[in-house]
Amino acid sequence: MNQNQFDLKGHLQHLLTLADLPQKILFGLLDRAEKFRVNPGETPSQYDLLAGKTIVNLFFEPSTRTRTSFELAARRLGAQVITLDMAFSSATKGESLLDTLYTLEAMNADLFVVRHQETGAMENLAQHALPHVHIVNAGEAHVSHPTQGILDVLTIRQHKKNFEKLSVVIVGDIRHSRVARSAIHALTILGTQNIRLAGPAELLPDDLSGEKFTNLDKALEGADVIMMLRIQKERMRSGLIPDEREYARRYGLDITRIKFAKPDVLVMHPGPMNRGVEITSEVADGPRSVVREQVANGVAVRMAVMATLMGK
Ligand code: NCD
Repeated sequence: MNQNQFDLKGHLQHLLTLADLPQKILFGLLDRAEKFRVNPGETPSQYDLLAGKTIVNLFFEPSTRTRTSFELAARRLGAQVITLDMAFSSATKGESLLDTLYTLEAMNADLFVVRHQETGAMENLAQHALPHVHIVNAGEAHVSHPTQGILDVLTIRQHKKNFEKLSVVIVGDIRHSRVARSAIHALTILGTQNIRLAGPAELLPDDLSGEKFTNLDKALEGADVIMMLRIQKERMRSGLIPDEREYARRYGLDITRIKFAKPDVLVMHPGPMNRGVEITSEVADGPRSVVREQVANGVAVRMAVMATLMGK
């Protein structure tokens, strides 16, 4: 268990990783997120749980869903929120990550939501933050993306009852995927044993357990959940994948291939999607897709995480 994310009394102080998070804490966050969940078209409730608190979003990598949902989550809980434009921040002048932390702490920031390209950035921040300050990992290199893992299992839980009996297939660029790693952590906590990893051999990393498949049709046989991943060109050293057309032919999810899975299979994708590469529009917008439910759950999960960390 990562002790650095707990305070001296054993409460969750930071959310750095889901690896070995106690099941009770994960259940608490899922149940709480369920209460914050708003359906499209409904007006979200406004809470004052975090009134007077200051939350700062620091995104050193691009983001649409995660950044917006953290910002909305903070606002709906009544906090003041600042999203720094990192492209115009002093980070571009060489200011270090820790100096950025200290500077914003001096302005009474209480919680930092951070996305960073370096492994270890979250631990470093958590170790140096003031005792009352919270760090929330919004994506650390290829290593972890805990709130995504939570929203993924929340989405599954809304459709499937028994995690222990599920067959979950994660497809694509697993080597570069923090989404895959956090999903595996969350599913493992909930007792899922049948996790299959499918993709080109070069993109199936050795650091992850799970049955590995280079043949997607075989991997999909009898699947309850298919998690598609984006090909992460920005993290790739040259030459790891065949060209896009060849990739789409061998590993793209289309309506023919989906028939290998169970008829009530859920199709997930964390976004952003490369339509026509890892997934066709017919599947992404089709009846088995829960992609937009994942997005809706993202706001609720981030509300649950921030309210819980701040003890409210
Ligand atoms: C992902 C990310 O940045 O880790 N997006 C997200 O947070 N929903 C996945 C990706 O970029 O492929």
